[in-house]
Amino acid sequence: SDGFLQGSRQLKLPPDKHVISNKVQIHSPQNRTIKVKLDKKLLNFTPVCDVIGREAVSAVTRARSEFCKELIVNVSCLSQQGKLYPERLYSSCPHSTGFIGKPKNLGCFKDDKTQRILSGYYAVFKTNNSPEHCAFMCLQSGYRFAGTEYSTECFCGMEEPSQVKRVPDSSCNMKCSGDPKQSCGGYLTTNIYRTGIRRFKAQEARNSSLKTGKEKPARIAFLLTVNGRASRQVKRLINVLYDPSHFYYIHVDARQDYMYREMLKVEKICRRKNIKVAKGAGLRYASIWGGASLLTTLLSSAKQMLQYSQHWDFLVNLSESDFPIKSNAQLIDFLTWNKGLNFVKSHGREVQRFITKQGLDKTFVECEARMWRLGDRKLPKGIQIDGGSDWVALSRDFVEYLSSPEPNELVTGLLKIFQYTLLPAESFFHTVLRNSKFCDTYVDNNLHVTNWKRKLGCKCQYKAVVDWCGCSPNDFKLEDLSRIRNTAERNLFFARKFEPVIDQRIIDRLEDWLYPDRENRTKMKGHDMYWQNLYHHADLSPMTDDTVLTIGNSLGRLIFTRFGFNTGHIRLLEITAYFVKNKFRGILILVEVDIKTFESSTYQNDLPDRVEALITLQRNFTASKMWSSRIKSLAINTDYDQKEQTFRNFLGGIDPMSNLILAYEFDASLVTPRNLSVLWIDPNGALADVNNLQLEEMTLMGSVKPQLDEPLSIGKWRVFLIADTLIAGNLSFVVTPLAFWKNRQMSMKKARDIHNGPSGIRRTREIDPKWISILRKAGINQEQTLDGTIIEDRTGPELNAWIDEFVGQYYTIENICIANEMHSKKRNDHDLHECSQTNWSSLSFDPKADVHNLCEI
Ligand code: UDX
Repeated sequence: SDGFLQGSRQLKLPPDKHVISNKVQIHSPQNRTIKVKLDKKLLNFTPVCDVIGREAVSAVTRARSEFCKELIVNVSCLSQQGKLYPERLYSSCPHSTGFIGKPKNLGCFKDDKTQRILSGYYAVFKTNNSPEHCAFMCLQSGYRFAGTEYSTECFCGMEEPSQVKRVPDSSCNMKCSGDPKQSCGGYLTTNIYRTGIRRFKAQEARNSSLKTGKEKPARIAFLLTVNGRASRQVKRLINVLYDPSHFYYIHVDARQDYMYREMLKVEKICRRKNIKVAKGAGLRYASIWGGASLLTTLLSSAKQMLQYSQHWDFLVNLSESDFPIKSNAQLIDFLTWNKGLNFVKSHGREVQRFITKQGLDKTFVECEARMWRLGDRKLPKGIQIDGGSDWVALSRDFVEYLSSPEPNELVTGLLKIFQYTLLPAESFFHTVLRNSKFCDTYVDNNLHVTNWKRKLGCKCQYKAVVDWCGCSPNDFKLEDLSRIRNTAERNLFFARKFEPVIDQRIIDRLEDWLYPDRENRTKMKGHDMYWQNLYHHADLSPMTDDTVLTIGNSLGRLIFTRFGFNTGHIRLLEITAYFVKNKFRGILILVEVDIKTFESSTYQNDLPDRVEALITLQRNFTASKMWSSRIKSLAINTDYDQKEQTFRNFLGGIDPMSNLILAYEFDASLVTPRNLSVLWIDPNGALADVNNLQLEEMTLMGSVKPQLDEPLSIGKWRVFLIADTLIAGNLSFVVTPLAFWKNRQMSMKKARDIHNGPSGIRRTREIDPKWISILRKAGINQEQTLDGTIIEDRTGPELNAWIDEFVGQYYTIENICIANEMHSKKRNDHDLHECSQTNWSSLSFDPKADVHNLCEI
């Protein structure tokens, strides 16, 4: 499956001691295990039942809002009383077997042979072939393709039925493997036989219609579910996918104001009206990772898409990080000959194992933008559970069936179940397909290539959002290009994931590969650049990081100080991360004089009132001669992404509450395994922590998290990398005070709390004398560390001035342009360029994300 695969496992909930004050323990007479019961006194409402079970009790305890607590209690009670889920559902698939085996069995079979075999259809499967290859071989030799489907009974034996020796399912692969005379196979269900025939017919139809040109090209409705701030990449995706006969429906996570506004602009520009953005309550959801809301989003969007456009044949869902790997013409061609089929990807393992790994046997409930795990549940009898990826291509008929207002027991029953299911979109469509009249249309291929790297992608990174350890695919990079190009012969049309902040070159190369004839983008200004907005003044959601606000405002002040304009009357408009040739180049600050807050007549006439500046970050790392070639990178920052092994905090601001990470990469020339030490020295010169790095061949790249007392002391910190007794490298970083707390101006009380260094009991640790002498040689004396005695409580302009001192040291203003056209026409005494004329400003031309002529084709 997509979300789960090998790495996923249950997240350990807070230990019992955390919950113990809220529960009483009771003995269950049946199984003698100790159960946990929720203490009602801790709730502000009367629960409808006694909530029992460690997981449910833990969830109620951890939830903060009354609404969420009550929802958890109500769902738990319904589940305990057996009222939450249907006990049995009925499959309307005419040839449902109730059994799903291993989906590796592929086969060709001759029509006449299948006719002779009674009670089911017989085929010899050839394992180890890809479905596409097998289908090709079948058709070549006049056989029909059995698909990637399942056997009801497994056997080993020769091709003739008389020679078949039946063996129990589980031992089938084992017994057959290695014996070239034997094939592993089974009886085909009618389902598969039909699918095989259907495809065969599709192929025949294709051949004949190709000659006559009868078949109408398939029309696609793209459902883009997007999140984050990479709006320029989404525009690029739309640019690449756009076709006037297709339909585009964009759902932006309800919390993403910036992306939403950018998508509204796209909708407005498109005069053909075949791009629509989901708007308003009931159509826009806070679709958290793995959440029940993601399925709600897909189903609600699908309904809208049916209403908006009568003409589409397929619904294809994509995200901000998908990109095509075949041309639009190839996609249309493929779907034209497969109208009526439904493309989903199955898990490819034993069903029970899939269910457990995916958490399908657990009840989850979503509130407070989190999926809470409440405990075990029983899935309904009578149907096949299936699942895999939530990236799909569904036929219009099937989408209509799902959206039908007429009650359908199977769909209604499954919706009840999937409302309380983790990663529901990864199983819902598969399960409905398997058990409905659409079972014949199931194709085990979701048209996607996914870049799974389990070791990196399964790090429990969503524990802040779900009570589960899920996985995410990695971003493709330039070195993966040949891997993607090698799929040219296969029916794969999209790949994920791509992020220009990680690697834009692969996206460029793919686009060139797919569309070599399109305008020569490589010559266009801005083609090798990328801009990603980090802050916009109009955003209410998500809440801006206080460090970003603090540093952004400080940089805004410093920019206007350049013009001798020394006042606090500036308004920060936008912050953008700017990349050139795939490398982070700097930060762009768009800022204006806030005319409203002071007498505009006092503002000098020759000064620009809105500018954008290119700001670079100072490099603050030096290595000894011997180590300079061995250390590829060494950096300290926050927001370390373990999956992509990079920092996401482009602005690089560090505040007293930051969780710091040191990330390193050493060159392979460091052949012998080494132990290195990292010494963290606070602004007072005290050794605050020591970390050890064990470098071996496989661990030349990694990260360490120091244990530092909070709040961090303000000022310049130094970090030494020690090899044996020598300093191999040193780094510095600055912890800046905060001008904002929860996006409001800092109060004196809060300033006292966080601007005076660590409070309470500090960790005492014995310092190894060898560090003392090494540090002494570097001029840092542990016996004489300074300790501030003045209570730090600056606010307002005083606090700002203090912040500006630090910011001025670590950021450099490299360039400024005039962002206000009116102004630049009137006067330009400061010899500044117009931002639109530069090649760096966020207001300069970006050919990849330019959608102005999108719907003119
Ligand atoms: C993996 C799987 O590939 C995917 O099938 C599964 O749904 C989640 O896990 P991953 O890269 O981890 O994907 O998720 P991501 O692509 O970031 O998000 C999945 C979808 O949810 C996207 O369309 C994304 O835009 C949306 N999303 C995610 C939100 O709308 N809001 C969020 O907060 C997070």
